[in-house]
Amino acid sequence: MKNIILTADRPTGRLHLGHFVGSLRERVRLQNQTEFDEFYVMIADAQALTDNAGNPQKVRDNVLEVMLDYLSVGLDPQKVTFCIQSEISALPELTQFYSNLVTLPRLLRNPTVKNEIAQKGFDKSGVPVGFAIYPISQAADITAFKANIIPVGEDQEPMLEQTREIVRAFNRTYNSNVLVECKAILPQNKESLRLPGTDGNAKMSKSLGNCIYLSDEPEVLKKKVNSIVTMPRKLEDPGVIENNILFVYLRAVCEDKHFEKYYPEFKNLSELEADYQKGGLGDGKIKQFLYKVLMDILSPIRERRKELQNQIAGILQILRNGTSKASQVANQTLHEVKSAMGIDYYSGNKYEEEQKKRFANKN
Ligand code: TRP
Repeated sequence: MKNIILTADRPTGRLHLGHFVGSLRERVRLQNQTEFDEFYVMIADAQALTDNAGNPQKVRDNVLEVMLDYLSVGLDPQKVTFCIQSEISALPELTQFYSNLVTLPRLLRNPTVKNEIAQKGFDKSGVPVGFAIYPISQAADITAFKANIIPVGEDQEPMLEQTREIVRAFNRTYNSNVLVECKAILPQNKESLRLPGTDGNAKMSKSLGNCIYLSDEPEVLKKKVNSIVTMPRKLEDPGVIENNILFVYLRAVCEDKHFEKYYPEFKNLSELEADYQKGGLGDGKIKQFLYKVLMDILSPIRERRKELQNQIAGILQILRNGTSKASQVANQTLHEVKSAMGIDYYSGNKYEEEQKKRFANKN
């Protein structure tokens, strides 16, 4: 079996630390350390529009912002095919056919969709149909490329479950083996499954305004780290590390080499945690260390991004070439899907012959 990796992001803002530890870092690892046949990274602008219909300029601008983030974290256009979702017309066609295999209650039971509906406050105006069915269009994104490996954050697991259900329903209904089942690759480190926001909210999210962006300048980063809410305590009181955002972040990003460089009093995070829990170690110190670790990780990304901002024509060309290749692959799958469904009227003479025979038998 082929190994086809695919993942995507909605272009509604620059990518942040949550994306980095939850998925981008894993993509770079897959790109550099694993064998695969194809690796697609899609900018899901059509999905972004499902809850930004009135704000297309935001989506338009962020297609390039997200592309800059991809390249600056080290995704390599020699290995990865970058593409724009809305330019691949086979995707909405597949979505239409798959939507006959999914019930409305099943869609609205999806926990990620449920959360998003609650968070976005759709309930007053009603949920747009396009939004409610975006899990089906996501199944199209994945199956159009016969992707089997999907590096995503934990919140995407319900989407992949939905996709597998559609794959099974399709293959069963049309007695075919055209579509391929996919599985998620989640981040290896538990803390990275879902990074909380700097305000303590369970999720780092652009709509909540609690993000550390990959492109944040050092002063902005410093301010954000300093603003992280911690539990008030007397310095000599034992520190609590459970649900302590500073330690959640450190567990997601720091390595032993950071201690050697910036905090040689400790060998590793376990030693720091043990000392913190004894009391006497203030949060200011931890914030300083976290800032240095984040600078160590984010500075090269920020610098590369600045260089890339001067190469917009070349970057758009990469995206155009990738989209064209992706579109061809998706068209091929659409063709197979239509054949399996028996709606391939003009591929060869088969339909004509079959229908002639049917009428001949009647006469
Ligand atoms: N829903 C994903 C997100 O919000 C983006 C996405 C769209 C996606 N299509 C996909 C992710 C296909 C993985 C595979 O981040």
